[in-house]
Amino acid sequence: MITVKKIGKHLGAEISGVDLSRPLDDDTFAQVANAFFDNEVVFFRNQKLTLEQHIAFTKRFGELEQHVRKEARLADHPEIFILSNILDDSGKAIGAQDAGRFWHSDLSYKREPSLLSALYAIKIPVKDGKPLGDTHFASSTAAYDALPEAMKQHLQGLKNVHSYREYRIKNYAAQQDEMRRGVRTVQEHAPTPEQLASVPDMATPVVRIHPVTKRKGLFVNEGHTSHMADMPREEGDALLKQLYAHITQPEFIYTHHWTPGDLLMWDNIAVQHKATFDYDPLPRLLYRTTVRGPAIC
Ligand code: SIN
Repeated sequence: MITVKKIGKHLGAEISGVDLSRPLDDDTFAQVANAFFDNEVVFFRNQKLTLEQHIAFTKRFGELEQHVRKEARLADHPEIFILSNILDDSGKAIGAQDAGRFWHSDLSYKREPSLLSALYAIKIPVKDGKPLGDTHFASSTAAYDALPEAMKQHLQGLKNVHSYREYRIKNYAAQQDEMRRGVRTVQEHAPTPEQLASVPDMATPVVRIHPVTKRKGLFVNEGHTSHMADMPREEGDALLKQLYAHITQPEFIYTHHWTPGDLLMWDNIAVQHKATFDYDPLPRLLYRTTVRGPAIC
């Protein structure tokens, strides 16, 4: 019997009574899946998972994606995306050091944006007894529900363009700015032309209906949205700014404080997330799997 303890007002719950290293029977899996889609972000503490067990559990939800950034995938398990600031013997980062600077939803720039991600914590930096490197999650379904009716009407049928290319340019500018200000030095990923060609820009509805819960949510994010489609740039940018500020209000946010052994899953259609870079040079290492979602139509 699993226990689900709700944490945030709109999102976030701890699930206990589950050992994810073992195959879950259909009934237990159904309970976990229901709790997940109800709460949008769920976590399991004290898990001891091999790579295969992490992959096997998340595969129950659908087909796994391999990230466009090949250099941040685990060599023998390309379904695992490495998030880390640890350097190898040659001084090269072993994973993505720069993921999550901006609010975003994983792989939202794809034709089949991700349904969910599952992040497993291996090494978490701690200072003065407090974990560092929190991850913040914002519910875009709760944010949609809270919009005035007139705004909901206005957004129907509108599209925004998600662009991996523009995201990399934005990320590079942020990295240069951090270095100039002496805040932080990270190795920035420079995508190859082939990588960019594999993820062309996608026009996506601003309001998406969740394929499982049927709830409406706002599918715009400051990381991957480059602009509003079919709208003068200035007007589109002003609308996006307003929506970003609305979605990321404290009442729609759950912040996760990591402990090694946490397996945390979030719904990429219902929430967006952002990392915190407050831990360098302390080492941080997490492994992420990502489940493919339905195609944008
Ligand atoms: C991400 O998946 O965007 C990174 C989250 C984190 O490192 O906290």
